[in-house]
Amino acid sequence: MCGIVGYVGNRDAVSVLVEGLLRLEYRGYDSAGVAVLRDDELLSVKAAVRVWQLRNMVTDLAGAHLGIAHTRWATHGPATEANAHPHFDSSGRFAVVHNGIIENAEALRTQLADRGVELASDTDSEVFAHLVAEASEQGGRLEDAVRAALRLVEGTYGLVVLDATRPDELVAARNGSPIVLGIGAGEMFVASDVSALVRHTRQVVYLEDGELATVRAGEFHTSTIDARTTHRAPTTVDLGVDDYELGGFADYMDKEMAEQPEAVVRVLRGRLDAKLGTARLDGLGLNPWELRGIRRVKFLGCGSAYYAGQLGAAVVEELARVPADAEPAAEFSYRNPVVDPDCLYVAVSQSGETFDTLAPVQELRRKGGRVVGAVNVVGSAIARECGSGVFLHAGPEISVASTKAFTNMAVSFALLGLLLGRVRDLSAAHGRRTVAGLQALPERIAEIIDRRDEVAAVAERFADAEHMFFIGRVRAWPVAREGAQKLKEISYVHAEAYQASELKHGPLALIDKSMPSVVLVPDDELVAKNLSTIEQIKARGGPVIAVTNADVPIELADAVITVPSVGAALDPILLTIPLQLFAYHMARKLGRDIDKPRNLAKSVTVE
Ligand code: F6R
Repeated sequence: MCGIVGYVGNRDAVSVLVEGLLRLEYRGYDSAGVAVLRDDELLSVKAAVRVWQLRNMVTDLAGAHLGIAHTRWATHGPATEANAHPHFDSSGRFAVVHNGIIENAEALRTQLADRGVELASDTDSEVFAHLVAEASEQGGRLEDAVRAALRLVEGTYGLVVLDATRPDELVAARNGSPIVLGIGAGEMFVASDVSALVRHTRQVVYLEDGELATVRAGEFHTSTIDARTTHRAPTTVDLGVDDYELGGFADYMDKEMAEQPEAVVRVLRGRLDAKLGTARLDGLGLNPWELRGIRRVKFLGCGSAYYAGQLGAAVVEELARVPADAEPAAEFSYRNPVVDPDCLYVAVSQSGETFDTLAPVQELRRKGGRVVGAVNVVGSAIARECGSGVFLHAGPEISVASTKAFTNMAVSFALLGLLLGRVRDLSAAHGRRTVAGLQALPERIAEIIDRRDEVAAVAERFADAEHMFFIGRVRAWPVAREGAQKLKEISYVHAEAYQASELKHGPLALIDKSMPSVVLVPDDELVAKNLSTIEQIKARGGPVIAVTNADVPIELADAVITVPSVGAALDPILLTIPLQLFAYHMARKLGRDIDKPRNLAKSVTVE
């Protein structure tokens, strides 16, 4: 949600800015805009348009060397030209782009109005431009005015300010919403996400919360809101422009599903001990005594990250025999939870920016809870707030629908289960079998993806379904939930997940020939029960697609998708892959915009 790009250097600023916005499109947005300073004149174009349309509207802005740009996801006021960023003060001297939410915006708007300031938009962000303008009346540097304005706002921000009287600098600030500086040769970039920078530089500086940066073509300096200088050395991002390119794939979801075998190799690298049959997760920062002291594990995440947490809870309980569960992160916050000092809380997030997951992390830390992250994006808010955890190493995930990050979450939780198990009662032999299963995963996933045409053919047969059930029992229950989630979000086909045991308590009433069910049949001790579920559905005329690694009689179901096995505890990971492919091919058949499903954003940074 929302994206920021800033540039100062010798190139044509507007081209750099628009290209940066294109890289941020995947985050989701409903309007876009740029402002550049050319010959001391502040020029701007903004509208409720796509970035490619904006590109055609900004041709007159060529020839500037300083500018800021933004893609907005509406929070305060609809997607209109007036509400699009950048926002300006009344004199048109200061331009601001802002991600996050200024929580006391209403009070600040009233105070500004009382002082005779006319506001041009409905947004919380515009107040900041006026506050900077007022603060600048005291004289001093741009960063002093920004600092003074920041002291008045409550809430979250990643922002960049441009002052038309200072053609050589931008000031950026961060609190809860990421800002990263890109260090070029004689040029400098600012963005809310490294994906907007990697085409130009891999040398970056992530601002910390409460930090400001003044950025000029050849230098930058950072300081805190209370004006203490900070010293920040650039780090090198190990991602290049290719990581963000389609590279011959039809869309990013297709590419990211295909990348899963290598992504799993990365998440396992250096974390398995085949000899001792255990895992190493040094990033948790927990010694064996501390690991043994954990009496409960709770996974917190949203959407697919929550379902991955459910898979995690199952595998932790199975391997370590430690009680574990998962809860939607926002629900956890809203119910004022009891914080258990013996519980390991795991905040699960691909982006590391999801507000609903960040909030409970902060609450847990305030209350002395032990919270670690399972996060994909290095330097993200949740990763920083947790301070310790497991990085997912899935690589950039651009498609809104999570695939490779989901898989790497589930794999990480198997590592956690193994580690917790091996400091308890899990035998070395069982540990070694689990290590072997984990090591086999990349190849088994590749096999499933290689046979994707079979799944595509099944999707083709069912593409006219308006509703579908996804049925799973015990280990396969989170798989069913994730399968239903994938299908609804990218194909817009209504899908609901049920535990197999729950069918007869209500949902069976909906079964008829127009309600296909995807029934998961893992090769575990519950095969017979799952086969009888299929029979119950068939007896009522419901079409069945069985997804299984067990020996399922082919004639029992209308379609059977088989996957290999790596052992019962890990098989749910494999069972998820065909469901991704199924959703993907359904969505393709229905002509959906797969990478950017309607109404959704990749990073949900608001409550
Ligand atoms: C589904 C999906 C979302 C995210 C959720 C959490 O495919 O992508 O449900 O899983 O919004 O996002 P992160 O993992 O970035 O916190």
